[in-house]
Amino acid sequence: MSNFVIVLILVLLLAGCAPAPPMSATPTGNAERGAQIFTQGQDDTPPCLTCHQVVNGQVGFGVGPNLDGIAERAGVRVAGMTAAEYLRQSILEPQLYVVSGYRNIMYPDYRTLLTEQDIQDLIAYLLTL
Ligand code: HEC
Repeated sequence: MSNFVIVLILVLLLAGCAPAPPMSATPTGNAERGAQIFTQGQDDTPPCLTCHQVVNGQVGFGVGPNLDGIAERAGVRVAGMTAAEYLRQSILEPQLYVVSGYRNIMYPDYRTLLTEQDIQDLIAYLLTL
């Protein structure tokens, strides 16, 4: 085999191993559509509003935490995670970080029922709160 062919194979192999694109840190979602999913749900998923209120300046009563101001809190919940990363994890794998004072009872199936676009739209919306 010529050196050229070997190099070519190596290049192709390396290209195949290229890291996947990073988890979206800059949201490209549509906040308006995210708000709609939040209040109405999407396909067969329960609306976030079933358990989460968004009320300014109060503790808020709900099964889940009041999400007013979550855009700021999200960035300091887990060391090393940006707000967008934390919000993504909160939706897809809520059991990985359970907010103090709450139980691990967030609806667990968003990861299978929401599309990537749905998730990005929700994150864009949450970042406006
Ligand atoms: C069945 C009730 C329920 C539904 C439906 C639900 N959540 Fe939650 N959520 C919770 C509970 C309870 C917690 C607190 C425990 C935890 O951290 O997992 C929580 C935590 C969160 C947090 C972390 C809040 C913080 O202060 O760090 C975010 C963000 C969140 N939910 C977003 C959503 C979004 C977006 C949806 C809709 C796609 C949704 N939740 C639907 C119950 C729910």
